[in-house]
Amino acid sequence: MPAAIRKAVIPAAGLGTRFLPVTRSVPKELLPILDRPMLQYVVAEAAEAGITDVIVVTSPGKEGIAEYFRPRPDLEERLADDAALLEKVRSGARLANVSFVIQEEPLGLGHAVLTARDAVGDEPFAVILPDDIIAHEPGALSQMMAATPDDAASVAVERVPWEIVHNYGVVDTESSDDNLHLVRGLVEKPPPGTAPSNLSIVGRYLLPAAVFDCLERTPPGARNEIQLTDGLALLMEDTPLYACEFQGIRYDGGNPMGLLRASLEHALQRDDTREAATALIKELAAQL
Ligand code: G1P
Repeated sequence: MPAAIRKAVIPAAGLGTRFLPVTRSVPKELLPILDRPMLQYVVAEAAEAGITDVIVVTSPGKEGIAEYFRPRPDLEERLADDAALLEKVRSGARLANVSFVIQEEPLGLGHAVLTARDAVGDEPFAVILPDDIIAHEPGALSQMMAATPDDAASVAVERVPWEIVHNYGVVDTESSDDNLHLVRGLVEKPPPGTAPSNLSIVGRYLLPAAVFDCLERTPPGARNEIQLTDGLALLMEDTPLYACEFQGIRYDGGNPMGLLRASLEHALQRDDTREAATALIKELAAQL
């Protein structure tokens, strides 16, 4: 990938049906891991990787996302004496320039990325799916930037149990150099028993602007949606695509149990909550 990727697209336009009823009024991406919205984690990961401009793709009814990034001078004034809280109130929008585009119709992830075309312009960019939370330093996006060869595109992957691989995009790889695999083909949500491997795509991508033309000519695929995975299959005709196995644990914040697990593990790692979280988990385990 060319040295400097400055922009990241964060698709956040989905209906969040697995989190109903809360998603009637709260966008899924603002649900917390402990006390921080998922969206904040991925913006922090982008900033750590050197991204300066974040483009969030939202949909009608999810105005709360833009609201989250707005400055709150009223709160800042009230909390002026408490440096720790003040820092938390300010941190939302300070990490990057955050802008928004609206996907008017739910036509799929590939279409959501295409909606950001004008905002990205003619330069390489990252895509980060906010319900894939990856705990690691350096972040997954940084790791991909370091690993991806010049003039190539890449996706993050991890090995998953074969029985769940049909839930994901899956790559077929040609050769591999440690954790970097040259992709030979990829498929979105292969029917059970047909996946070419158990290397599933995790929501991090480094892409050239040429992918937009590919997405323009991508027909609806799995779930009758325009899939990013299918757009990448077209991109591969001209651009080498690599699959990066990253270091770190991926949490699936896309469903309630995954989010609960992420919260618990996060609470165990954080100095201010470790003791109470350990006691809670022991107490709950003793009741089983
Ligand atoms: C999306 C992508 C899929 C990828 C997954 C990772 O699927 O389409 O290729 O494996 O994210 O979380 P979704 O979770 O929207 O079904």
